[in-house]
Amino acid sequence: MAGLIPQSFINDLIARVDIVDVIGARVQLKKAGSNHKGLCPFHNEKTPSFNVNPDRQFYHCFGCEAHGTAIGFLMEYDGLTFPEAIEALASSVGVTVPREQGREPPRDTSLYEVLESADLEFRRWLRSNEDAAGAVAYLKSRGLTGEIARDFGIGLAPEGWDGIKRALSSFGEQKLIAAGLVVKNEKGRTYDRFRERIIFPIRDTRGRVIGFGGRVYGAGEPKYINSPETDVFRKGRELYGLYEARRAQRRLQSVLVVEGYMDVVALAQHGVVNSVATLGTAIGQAHFETLYRHVDLVVCCFDGDEAGRGAAWKAVDAAFPVLSGTRQLKFVFLPEGEDPDTIIRSRGREHFQELVDQAMPVGEYFVAHLEEGLDLDKADGRALLSELAVPHIGRLPNGALRRVIVDGLAERTGIDAATLDRAAGQSHATDNARSDPTEPFPEVDQPSRRPLKPSGSQILFEIVKDPELIAVLDSETQVALAKDADTSLLADVASYLLEEPEADTGTLLARYVGHEGHDQLAEFAARPLLLPTRAGDFAAKVRRYIVDMDLTASSRAAEQSGWSMDDLRRHAQRRQEML
Ligand code: UTP
Ligand code: MN
Repeated sequence: MAGLIPQSFINDLIARVDIVDVIGARVQLKKAGSNHKGLCPFHNEKTPSFNVNPDRQFYHCFGCEAHGTAIGFLMEYDGLTFPEAIEALASSVGVTVPREQGREPPRDTSLYEVLESADLEFRRWLRSNEDAAGAVAYLKSRGLTGEIARDFGIGLAPEGWDGIKRALSSFGEQKLIAAGLVVKNEKGRTYDRFRERIIFPIRDTRGRVIGFGGRVYGAGEPKYINSPETDVFRKGRELYGLYEARRAQRRLQSVLVVEGYMDVVALAQHGVVNSVATLGTAIGQAHFETLYRHVDLVVCCFDGDEAGRGAAWKAVDAAFPVLSGTRQLKFVFLPEGEDPDTIIRSRGREHFQELVDQAMPVGEYFVAHLEEGLDLDKADGRALLSELAVPHIGRLPNGALRRVIVDGLAERTGIDAATLDRAAGQSHATDNARSDPTEPFPEVDQPSRRPLKPSGSQILFEIVKDPELIAVLDSETQVALAKDADTSLLADVASYLLEEPEADTGTLLARYVGHEGHDQLAEFAARPLLLPTRAGDFAAKVRRYIVDMDLTASSRAAEQSGWSMDDLRRHAQRRQEML
């Protein structure tokens, strides 16, 4: 996809396609004089005020003022970027888009056909396979009707190792592997990826199947598996349910982001048809870019658990760089233990809608989250708040939201807004990437969040204040920390606490009496804790510390713990990605 599309090609293409064909394939048009008329797809109307003018190759709606060229129409109607719209137009007239530079190997678009065939099989199996009864019963037990299963194209991968492999054998094994449908093990044996699972087809905004999610309906692990990334499936950008949501509400006003396939489907079952889910990955900047191409308001509604709240905070950082202009982001926080599916089933649509209507705006959530546990009556607390906020604000484009947040912080911290703004620095808004419409869409951008580097003594301080914190770390992190060669006191304390999990601050100090480090620990113990440490935050901080630490320290840890350096690094990175 990368590389500039030559302007001459675009001009030729526009000259070649007829806007009446392009729009007529999507909207019913009737000839009226030299114009074509139809019901406007961009607003609700009963009498046609949507005009397509073949002479000017232009459309215009007298009702809602929507207007533009064939390319603009495709961008708006199919939710495409400019290069995607060009691709779509080009393929409709059977030409390929040349690229001027940065040429990547062409994507294997034949995968669409393979995936579509698989989709047909899965759906057919849900209707007719001998295993279908169990799957259907399961769907019913989740409150889903056949109608909604049909709307989402839910299917079934039956028991056995080669259902799809055999049904689609005419494509050849390589294609099935490339499409993510068939897996090859170390011994070279190939078998179906999805077995004995309910299948959720994942579509792009044009409705093409690009991958699948599969849920167990009997016993089995893991609960869900998903297609791997393929030539046509980019998890960092695609969202489950977006196509269905746009089909249900042509003029989508807002989108609700939830965590799971089941949440999307259950919400639709109860009439909330505008929800989408990421594909087993955290929501990232590219997801928000996709969403804000369709709507101005995104409401995140994650599960009411630690992970869901973590996801919400992560979403803030992912969204910040694209929150400009009229774009809005809000958050719903569900009661502990609930997810959108359980809530709408137990409390009904109205209750759920109320929660959404009362969602918290991102600016408010941002400050409230950072402020948690800080004492703003104290100078320390106020300073810490500004320190915590500044790096995030730096990622926010100039605009209303940034101003509101900075002004609010200025008020709360007593630091003037201009100073905060300066400290935060220039935002690197990604919006200008769109000023050149031929520029390919920016590649998936991992959130470039660089939180304050946690220091060893910070961590030590928190442990001294609350030795039980060590228990919240997973065992690998504990080992890495205990072997940290950099801060020997921290490593020493950590390994002591791993042996003596019952120890409290007093016991810990007692052990160090007469030993090196005692004074430091005593000083920490006496110092007040400004910010009560939350288990999740602590664990995150330690993992970050381990990643950020000089790897020479970790290499010693690796040596002593019997892991390879690569294992340790991979592990540390994986943990960090999960933060
Ligand atoms: P959840 O565990 O929250 O499941 O995973 P859920 O959506 O509530 O599912 P039900 O209600 O038990 O059926 C949320 C999402 O995380 C991904 C899937 O995309 C899932 O929809 N996930 C979860 C996986 O990829 N693998 C898993 O094993 C679990
Ligand atoms: Mn659930």
